[in-house]
Amino acid sequence: MKHSHNTPAIGLDVGTSRIVTASRHEEDFQYRTQLNAFVTVPWSKMTEASLKREGVPYVVHSDNGDKSIIVPGNESSRFADLLQTETRRPMTRGVLNPQEPANAAMLKQLIENLTAGERRSGLPVYYSVPAAPLGAEENLTYHEATIAQILRELDCSPTPINEGLAVVFSELEDTNYSGIGISFGGGLVNVCLSYLAVPVLSFSVPKAGDYIDSSASTITGELSTRIRLEKEESFYINGHFSDKLHQVLNVYYDEMIRAVVAGLKDAFANARNIPKMGKPVPMVLSGGSAMPRGFRDRFEKLLKESDFPLPLSEVRMAKSPLDATAKGALVAALAEL
Ligand SMILES: Nc1ncnc2c1ncn2[C@@H]1O[C@H](COP(=O)(O)OP(=O)(O)OP(=O)(O)O)[C@@H](O)[C@H]1O
Ligand SMILES: [Mg+2]
Repeated sequence: MKHSHNTPAIGLDVGTSRIVTASRHEEDFQYRTQLNAFVTVPWSKMTEASLKREGVPYVVHSDNGDKSIIVPGNESSRFADLLQTETRRPMTRGVLNPQEPANAAMLKQLIENLTAGERRSGLPVYYSVPAAPLGAEENLTYHEATIAQILRELDCSPTPINEGLAVVFSELEDTNYSGIGISFGGGLVNVCLSYLAVPVLSFSVPKAGDYIDSSASTITGELSTRIRLEKEESFYINGHFSDKLHQVLNVYYDEMIRAVVAGLKDAFANARNIPKMGKPVPMVLSGGSAMPRGFRDRFEKLLKESDFPLPLSEVRMAKSPLDATAKGALVAALAEL
């Protein structure tokens, strides 16, 4: 007998910007999320006392007697903004940074918190991994193996799933998982063409939200963390801008979209093994960077102008763009039970 109150599996989106878990309780999918970031400040009694008073979660870290305070996850962004400092990030461009061994520990702590109360021995966890960039054989083994190891240390049973394919699993049940899933994330844009749930072609483009933030930061002189907060609060896509930051963001948004459209065209022009689909398939857009108002229209316009070779039935947004990868990973896990 299954215990209906225990999730039968977890879908885990290990994103450069955010970590998201999806679990199933009865028939409901539930999501939890944490920023994949942290801030470190030197320890002092007063700082610790203030954090406590403000209710900001923190960890005291001691390294050979040098004490520091770490503020991980969701609160790190507001805290960094207050301190006028950048957040530190365990991952960059879709993968763990192998130069910084402490980052794996940070990631483990975030995953541990997000799965608290859900974990049990051998619980299947499907976790998202990016595709290699177009034309480059990037080595994703280190990243994939490290996440698997973290999950095993947490007593779970890990399986990797391509991020673009996860988007297809989340959104394209109605075409039997045939179509193109795209996730516009923080570190990468991930693309996958799936035919009947089989990934036929996938690639990533290393220009996404972080690239937009850091490029805008070099132009305006503001910290990336600040730009990101403003972008998420008030940016939208159209031709009329009253302020400089929105105009700059628009320029880099266009650059990201054009890079993805060029990648799509290239990948499909050079691929020999694309099955004849029979009929037009949908393309679905997800991820945080696809959220601004007007994004879908702009993307479709630039895609149409590029004479994209594959017939599409529609270009649509994912129902919940920030949860799609985690949901798709969970759908994949449930299908294998
Ligand atoms: N409402 C919003 N408007 C604009 N941008 C947003 C919004 N919400 C989030 N973002 C941006 O989306 C990006 C994060 O997206 P997402 O959470 O899908 O990435 P990720 O999965 O963590 O990264 P990746 O898949 O590249 O590893 C960030 O650049 C963030 O600033
Ligand atoms: Mg992502």
